[in-house]
Amino acid sequence: MKSKLEDILKNARGLFQEADTEASLNDLKVRFLGKKGELTNVMKGMRDLSAEERPLIGKIVNDIKNEMEELFDARREDIHHASLDRKLREEKIDVTLPGRRSPRGSKHPITLVTEEINEIFSTLGFGVVEGPEIENDYHNFEALNIPKNHPARDMQDTFYVSDDIVLRTHTSPVQIRTMLQHKPPLKVIAPGTVYRRDSDLTHSPMFHQVEGLLVDYKVTFGDLKGTLQAFLNRFFGKKIGVRFRPSFFPFTEPSAEVDIQCVICSGKGCRVCKDTGWLEILGCGMVDPEVFKAVDYDPEVFSGYAFGVGLERLCMLKNGISDLRLFFENDIRFLKQFTN
Ligand code: FA5
Ligand code: MG
Repeated sequence: MKSKLEDILKNARGLFQEADTEASLNDLKVRFLGKKGELTNVMKGMRDLSAEERPLIGKIVNDIKNEMEELFDARREDIHHASLDRKLREEKIDVTLPGRRSPRGSKHPITLVTEEINEIFSTLGFGVVEGPEIENDYHNFEALNIPKNHPARDMQDTFYVSDDIVLRTHTSPVQIRTMLQHKPPLKVIAPGTVYRRDSDLTHSPMFHQVEGLLVDYKVTFGDLKGTLQAFLNRFFGKKIGVRFRPSFFPFTEPSAEVDIQCVICSGKGCRVCKDTGWLEILGCGMVDPEVFKAVDYDPEVFSGYAFGVGLERLCMLKNGISDLRLFFENDIRFLKQFTN
């Protein structure tokens, strides 16, 4: 029996050593140490031994069992390390390779222009304010000296939400809201989205304006002209053909519109400027005393100027874009040309 046990152990030593996967190792464990394993079988024969032999053989069996368990554990450890080594060798990561980049969006050109205008006017001392896009008749028209049935309402084709509620047709209602909240003097710009029933090369039903409002003692039209000229020079980064053209707005008196030489055709005349060589970018003027009365400012004491710039037009002229609708089609090939 002793020699039989030694044979089993010898055999097991060799086989355990040869096992090269965890699965084959487990099979061996079952084969030798399992319930119907070789060692167990031998142990079953122990009841036929004499009382003297039994403890001796019992000890040998135990020793063999312990050794097999140790062999098993050691081999399992080896296999584990080997597979880890292999993994590390095969799955080498080259950390010097550039990573995969995820595509990065860019700011919309209108956002870029808005930020630039905010920045320019901030350095001129203007604060930035905002107002709601869904506006009531009072702020959008009435307080701006455009009473109901006034012909000036036809100047802007309005989207009505209800009789009294409109999508604001310009950023001028923010003038009213600001003056109702703050006492003069005052120096603000108000960028925002506006809506009109308008659509062609240079008009879209949704577009953007920046309103400007300055109220102080003894403000003159010269101040307005100087500020706008300074703004346009900074914005275009060069001297650009600008003309002030007398115009009419119910909320300013006198009023003007400012045109910029068409950069698409350099003033020669094209589709964009409708063969005039000029493109209108803003309306402006001295705040009408009627407006001051509506917000309880004393027109005898204070004067002011206001302006409303069309952002799409500015952006078209700055970047040589010939169709305003490109801004809102969300064609990525167009949008990704504008980086900040
Ligand atoms: C106004 O909206 C006045 N609120 C501007 C103003 C403010 C005057 C303060 C005096 C004092 P107007 O309708 O002209 O004015 O529009 C101003 C600018 O917005 C235009 O010069 C033009 O650049 C732009 N604009 C007007 N309609 C559209 C449109 N449908 N699509 C794109 N830009 C437009
Ligand atoms: Mg106009």
